[in-house]
Amino acid sequence: MKNIVILISGRGSNMEAIVRAQIPGAKIAAVISNRPDAAGLAFAASHGIAAQVVDHKAYPSREAFDAALAETIDAHQPDLVVLAGFMRVLTDGFVGRYNGRLLNIHPSLLPSFPGLHTHQRALEAGVRVAGTTVHFVTPTLDCGPIVIQAVVPVLDGDDEAALAARVLVQEHRIYPQAVRWFVEDRLSLTADGKVRVTDEPAGPAGWTVPPVEG
Ligand code: GAR
Repeated sequence: MKNIVILISGRGSNMEAIVRAQIPGAKIAAVISNRPDAAGLAFAASHGIAAQVVDHKAYPSREAFDAALAETIDAHQPDLVVLAGFMRVLTDGFVGRYNGRLLNIHPSLLPSFPGLHTHQRALEAGVRVAGTTVHFVTPTLDCGPIVIQAVVPVLDGDDEAALAARVLVQEHRIYPQAVRWFVEDRLSLTADGKVRVTDEPAGPAGWTVPPVEG
């Protein structure tokens, strides 16, 4: 069994998708929020998962918050820590502690549109495709080695909400997939910071993991 700790800040729909995927060999050991009012906590608790809060407002600095967060996480002996709509910038120390076992999802085709207001900026830029990215976390925000991406079209008349909803459907597909790969020991970060996925299966239509040629 691999222990997984999921960090959220709000709705928690990606966390929910990972829980609902019932990945063999995975135990969702805890869901931890930095906000006491995160809606996702109720879902976790109702599914028998430890639902905990480490409120960032209770700490005087990022370092103090990250230390408390790490202590709460480590009590669950995690093999993998999953950021699922966790909207806090993490210190380098925290990121380094979980190097190679810290995943994030971002609602854009990274490296385009890191940071906030992703969909609005994509619409303003006039891109014809948008998407989502799961990546290993490194100290630079939304910049780590890419594990899996999915693409959606940008349609005439799209507003931020419409585009976000289309992307979210794909988030709920690729994040459980990435976690599954990790749990199956098929996904890792090499010593030189490259993503390694072994025995990659052909995904259903909609996943855009191109076959590696040659
Ligand atoms: C998701 O769209 C996720 O990609 C995004 O926040 C949303 C959380 O939704 N994360 C980021 O923007 C991180 N930079 P959820 O709470 O329903 O999973």
